[in-house]
Amino acid sequence: MRLISRRRLRFFLYVLIGFIMVTIITRGIVQFQLNKEIKYYKRFFKENKDSLEQMFNPLEIKQIPEEVIDSLYSETLSRASKTNKGINWDKFAYVNYVTDASYLCNTLIMFNKLKTEFQTKAKLVLLVTKDLIEDNATNKEKNILMLASIKNVDSEQVRIKYVDNIVKPKDYTPWNESLTKLRVFNETDFDRIIYMDNDAALTANLDELFFLPQYIKFAAPMTYWFISQNDLKEAYHELQHDDRITLNLNNYNKQTISRIKKGKMIYNHLPSLPSSLYLNSKNVAQEIISSTSSASPLFDFHTSKKASKIKFASNIMVIKPSKETFDKILYELLPRALTKKEMYDMDLINEELYNLKKIVYYQFSLFRKLKSEFIPEVMVLPFGRYGLLTGSLRNKNHYSMISNDILGYKRMDNDGNELLGLDKSVADAKYIHFSDYPIGKPWHYVSIKEFECVPDAETAEDLDQETKACNIWNSFYDTFIQARSICN
Ligand SMILES: *[C@@H]1O[C@H](CO)[C@@H](O)[C@H](O)[C@H]1NC(C)=O
Ligand SMILES: *[C@@H]1O[C@H](CO)[C@@H](O)[C@H](O)[C@H]1NC(C)=O
Ligand SMILES: *[C@@H]1O[C@H](CO)[C@@H](O)[C@H](O)[C@H]1NC(C)=O
Repeated sequence: MRLISRRRLRFFLYVLIGFIMVTIITRGIVQFQLNKEIKYYKRFFKENKDSLEQMFNPLEIKQIPEEVIDSLYSETLSRASKTNKGINWDKFAYVNYVTDASYLCNTLIMFNKLKTEFQTKAKLVLLVTKDLIEDNATNKEKNILMLASIKNVDSEQVRIKYVDNIVKPKDYTPWNESLTKLRVFNETDFDRIIYMDNDAALTANLDELFFLPQYIKFAAPMTYWFISQNDLKEAYHELQHDDRITLNLNNYNKQTISRIKKGKMIYNHLPSLPSSLYLNSKNVAQEIISSTSSASPLFDFHTSKKASKIKFASNIMVIKPSKETFDKILYELLPRALTKKEMYDMDLINEELYNLKKIVYYQFSLFRKLKSEFIPEVMVLPFGRYGLLTGSLRNKNHYSMISNDILGYKRMDNDGNELLGLDKSVADAKYIHFSDYPIGKPWHYVSIKEFECVPDAETAEDLDQETKACNIWNSFYDTFIQARSICN
C-alpha cells in the first residue's frame, strides 16, 4: 500500500513539474515572439511616421507639449470663425468636487476667477456631497449660504450637483471619501471636462485643454516628484540611444505644429514618454503581459509586478465622460477598491483604469487584431503648466525638471541653449497645487506671516535664488489668502 501511494505521489510530482516546465517554455516562446513583433513595429513607426495618416503607434504613450496644445486651440478657433460655426461651450465644463465643507470656499475662489478674471465660457460644475446640507449637518446654514454664493458667480454658467459620497468603510484617514471624485466620470452631459482639485492656485483659464485631439478620453500630468536625477538621466539616454535625434523639444514642436496647420495627423509625431520611467526592464513583452495577469504565486514567480516610477497625478484630469467607463468604475473597480487597503482615487486610476503598462498592452493587443482600427485614448499633459506643486518652487532639485516638463526632452532655443530658470517655469504655470508637507493647507492659517517662506541660505548666490523662490512661493499663498475674503 505505502509503496503504491509513494509511486503515485512521484507520478503526480512528475506531472506537476512537467506542467510547470511547459508553462515556462510556452511563456518564453510567447514573449520572444511578441518582443520580435514589438521591435518590428517600433521601427516601422519610426521610419514611416511622416506618411502614415490613419495608423496610430500603439507601443508608446505620448506627451503633448504646451506649444502643441496651444496650436490645436488656435487652429480650432480660427476654423470656427472661418466657418461661422462657433464653439458650443455648453459641451465643456470645469469640475470641482467637495466632500468637506472647508473646501467650499476654494471652489468659490476658483469659479469666480474662471468666470470674472479669466472669462471662460465653459460651464462650472460643482459636485458636492448631500450630507453637507442635511438637517443634521454641522454648519448646515453656513454651507447653504456658501453654495448660494457659488451659484451666484453666474446662475447660468454654474451648476451644483448633489451626489452621495463614496466612503471607504473602516478607514479614518483624510482620504476616506476621496473615491467620490470618480463620480466626475459620470458627467456625460459634457463632451469634455477639466476636473480640478480645488486646493490650488489658478493663474489663467485652461480652455485650450478642451481641444486636445478628439479621440483622447483621458489626459493628466505625471507625478514628476517621484522622478530622481538618475531616472531622468536614464530617460535621456534611452531616447537619444533609440532615436539618434537631438533632445531639443523645439524641433518636434515645429514639425508637429506645421502638421496641425496642414490638417495632418500629429499623434505619431508627439514625443513619447520614455519607457524606462514606467517599465522596470527591457523585456517589454514580459512587462506588459505580467501587468494584466492576475498574480498567481505558482506561475508568476519569475515575472515582475513592480510599480512604475511614475503615474498619472489625479489632481487635474481632462476627461471625456462616458457611461461605459463610469459603469466599469462603478461595478467592477469600486467594489474592489472599497475593500482594499490604501486604495484611493489616484490608486484606482493608476492601478486599474489607466495603468501605463496595461495601456501599452491593450493598445498593442487591439492593434495586432485591427491595425488601423486602433485609436489611442490616453495622453500625458505637461506637468510644468498643469501639474506643478507649490513645494517644487522651494526645491532646487526640481527647477530644471519643471522647465523641461516633457520627460526625456529639453526645452532649448534655436541655438540649442537650454531655457532654464524659475521665472520661465512659473510664468508658464497655470494650475499650481498647494502641497508643502508638513505645512498644512492655507485655509488653516489666518495670515501668510504664520507660514511664510524666509530665505536662509549661506552663500550670496544661493541666497539670491532662494529669495526669488520664496517671493514667488509667498505670492501664490498670499493671493489665496486675499482672495478668500470673498467667502466671508
Ligand atoms: C443625517 O441624516 C441622514 C438622513 O437625513 C442620515 O442618513 C444620516 O445617517 C444622518 N447622519 C448623522 C451623522 O446622524
Ligand atoms: C473619515 O475619516 C475622518 C477622519 O479623517 C473621520 O472623522 C470620519 O469619521 C471618517 N468617516 C467615516 C465614514 O468613517
Ligand atoms: C450618473 O449620471 C446620470 C445622469 O446624470 C444619473 O442619472 C445617474 O444617477 C448617475 N449615476 C450614479 C451612479 O450616480
